[in-house]
Amino acid sequence: MIERQLWHPVADAHTLRDAPLAVRLLGEPLVLWRDHGRVHAWADRCPHRGARLSLGRVLTTVHGPRLECPYHGWQFGGGKEGGRCRHVPAAPEFTPPTGHAAQAFEARELHGLIWVRLQPGADAPLDAPPAFAEADDPAWRRVVCGPYTVATSAPRLVENFLDLSHFGFVHEGWLGERGHAQVQTGLVGEDPTGLSVKGARAWQPRAYAQADDGAWIDYGYTVPHPFAAVLRKDASAGDPVRNAIALFIRPDGDEACTAWFVMATQNDPASVESLVEFQDAVFAQDRPVIESQQPKALPTGRTGPVTEVHGPADRVSSAYRRYLQRLGVSLGTC
Ligand code: FES
Ligand SMILES: [Fe+2]
Repeated sequence: MIERQLWHPVADAHTLRDAPLAVRLLGEPLVLWRDHGRVHAWADRCPHRGARLSLGRVLTTVHGPRLECPYHGWQFGGGKEGGRCRHVPAAPEFTPPTGHAAQAFEARELHGLIWVRLQPGADAPLDAPPAFAEADDPAWRRVVCGPYTVATSAPRLVENFLDLSHFGFVHEGWLGERGHAQVQTGLVGEDPTGLSVKGARAWQPRAYAQADDGAWIDYGYTVPHPFAAVLRKDASAGDPVRNAIALFIRPDGDEACTAWFVMATQNDPASVESLVEFQDAVFAQDRPVIESQQPKALPTGRTGPVTEVHGPADRVSSAYRRYLQRLGVSLGTC
């Protein structure tokens, strides 16, 4: 199952502080915790008697930070200790063998989110969380919006993000106008690990939070991961505002997902609060429509009886469906 070999976002980085945090990824209960800022993601199950480690606490010991199980207080070490049990309070002389260990997964903090992968093995460049250089460049301001829990599949949500031709209807007066519904789909580049789209164009009456005039907006997209996409907008020449926005999704099943929009802006006077409000408002426009789509899994022609028909403006979405098929993504597709 390729989904287990991919990196997925599981939580906002700022919500993980001193206490352990319970999250779920692809049906696996996980506990996240930090030692000296470094993130760990372990199975949320104590190897002793199966209690949830996320109910425990992070201890500072002379040997370094440890996660203490809430039940019998066994202590599990981070860092090089890699989840091994280091102390059993009821038998302090006992040296736990190697097998007395929490199950540890790979975890990283990137783009303001915590990323986890359950199983190593995907080919580079899918070997790392999806790239979004602007979000980690101090010359840009990063704003994390979400999480949004959505009653549809991750692929439906990615396809919506890549789709310019709904703007005049779903986002009328915001991102599009029905009288200006024509779009240019641009040039799609397809390679085994992702997609790129250059030169897509749509008319926008209010292209971002601070815009007050309508304009043709040039879009560039990358799809570096089956459940992620990055959009770069280029407003008219001479406009100093630059912004890029990424959609990162945790698939929670075939019909449920959790999404974050990570924005990176330059020279944008809008406050963080107004950027988040704008994104919340735009997503509130998308939500009822995308949650209404049937089936919730995206028809890629893989096996399902459901087919959907396409128009000339759907070239990017067709390329995205082919990409999912090429990679063998089954979660959220049919
Ligand atoms: S169940 Fe965790 S210490 Fe016993
Ligand atoms: Fe939309």
